Amino acid sequence: MATVITYGTYDLFHIGHLRLLQRAKALAGEGGRLIVGVSTDRFNWEEKKKRSAIPYEQRAEIVAALKCVDQVIPEDDWDMKRDILKYDVDVFTIGGDWEGKFDHLKEVCKVVYLPRTEGISSTDLKAGIREGRRDS
Ligand code: CTP
Repeated sequence: MATVITYGTYDLFHIGHLRLLQRAKALAGEGGRLIVGVSTDRFNWEEKKKRSAIPYEQRAEIVAALKCVDQVIPEDDWDMKRDILKYDVDVFTIGGDWEGKFDHLKEVCKVVYLPRTEGISSTDLKAGIREGRRDS
C-alpha cells in the first residue's frame, strides 16, 4: 500500500491519459492512493510552452472524477519535492517521454517511468482536428 503521485496536462483527455493513470494507481497497490498534479494554464503556457484547449478547472474536474484518482492538486511550478514531502508520497511516476528528467526526486521517493500508449497525444489530436483528419 503506497501513495503515488503523477503530473500532467491532460488536455483533450484521451486513452493514453487513462491508461497512464490506471497504471499509476496499480503501483499504489491495495488500499493505496493516487494523487494527480494537473498543470495550470499559466504553468502550461509559461513553462511548457503549450496552450491547452480545455481550461484548468475543467481538466482538473475530469481527472478528479476518475475511479483510479484519489486527489487532484494544481501543478503550478517544478517543485515536486515539496508535494512529495507534504503528501508523504512513496512513488513518483510519469510517462516514458520524461525518462531521466526526474531522477533527482530519487532523493525523496521511488521514481518510476511508465511506458506511454503508442500513437496518441493531445498535440496530435489538436493537429488532426485542425487538419480535419481522423485516423481510426
Ligand atoms: N501519456 C501516455 N501515453 C500517451 C500520452 C500521454 O502515457 N499516449 C502520459 C504522459 O507520459 C504523462 C501523462 O500521460 O505521464 C500526461 O501527459 P500529457 O502531457 O498531458 O499528454 P500528451 O497527450 O502527451 O500531451 P502533449 O501532446 O500536449 O504533450
